[in-house]
Amino acid sequence: MASKPVVMVIGATGTIGFATISSLVSEHSSAFDIQAGVRDPKKAEDKFKDLKGAVKIVQATMGDKDLPKVFQGVSRLFIVTPPTKDRAELTIATITSAKLAGVQSIVVVSACAADVKLGFMIGEQFKQIEEAIKNLDIPSTIVRLPGFLENYYGFRDNIINRSCICMPVDPNKPYTPVAAIDAGKAVALILINPAQHAGKTYNIVSNRHTMNEACQEFSRQLGKVVKFVQISYEKAKENFLMAGVPDWQVDGMIHSFRMMDEGSPASNLQDIEDFHRITNMAPTSLADWIATNRFAFQ
Ligand SMILES: NC(=O)c1ccc[n+]([C@@H]2O[C@H](COP(=O)([O-])OP(=O)(O)OC[C@H]3O[C@@H](n4cnc5c(N)ncnc54)[C@H](OP(=O)(O)O)[C@@H]3O)[C@@H](O)[C@H]2O)c1
Repeated sequence: MASKPVVMVIGATGTIGFATISSLVSEHSSAFDIQAGVRDPKKAEDKFKDLKGAVKIVQATMGDKDLPKVFQGVSRLFIVTPPTKDRAELTIATITSAKLAGVQSIVVVSACAADVKLGFMIGEQFKQIEEAIKNLDIPSTIVRLPGFLENYYGFRDNIINRSCICMPVDPNKPYTPVAAIDAGKAVALILINPAQHAGKTYNIVSNRHTMNEACQEFSRQLGKVVKFVQISYEKAKENFLMAGVPDWQVDGMIHSFRMMDEGSPASNLQDIEDFHRITNMAPTSLADWIATNRFAFQ
């Protein structure tokens, strides 16, 4: 019997990586051997325990010189760009290792901010990654992601204990986030049909909403008033630093909030149809996302 093509997700324990593995397992496992590339297999065991049997856990560290060996036999690779200061170097090294190993197609995570004139580090890093993948003679697809709806978990304590969401942005400015599960579904479909998506750059986003609308929806579904509290940029920065977020990442987050305030296309995409084009489905709405995750905010 002919062996099945191997599809690997490197960075499989994180939000988008795990969502992609879950979609591959639930929708496409009969056609592929699915591998989860993780830095620490022991630590990852628990994460994948419900998918046991359907996923092979493989030790894979971006930047590791042995990576070409790890990729031997892998036909399709999803590189989850790591959320690190050296993300461009690590991702480009991973792309190079994939080429050396003979991987036949690659999907890589970028950000919606990658082609906006930015002058800030995170956008520049993604731009470098996009250039590297475009110069590669392997069929590849760039998946640009906006902020995740899952980032509302960052407001969980305030929603539960103070019935508010605190942010520095104008609560009437719309933005276009995405549910991680939708991003995972789209990437899984690209991985199973790489030829159809080769050379494309997609923005996987959902419908736009404002922070006032988010507060209204949380209020409706939680049965209590959730207010929006606008804080200064300085206060937001102080809060993130106190929570232990590294400086460079805080600067990136503050920059993203400013883009939202300025109505930048990086946070409020004009064309929001790529998810539907790839999956033929409607994206998860804010209301549906809150309904699914409501238990965590009560
Ligand atoms: N969160 C958002 O709203 C958002 C939106 C758009 C784009 N992004 C970007 O999209 C990317 C993925 O986001 P995410 O939220 O899925 O990240 P995440 O949940 O923090 O997961 C990051 C993953 O990268 C892995 N990783 C880190 N360094 C690695 C290395 N050297 N080698 C191999 N794996 C490594 C981690 O593995 P371990 O388990 O070993 O730590 C983890 O699986 C990031 O670049 C992020 O900045 C995020």
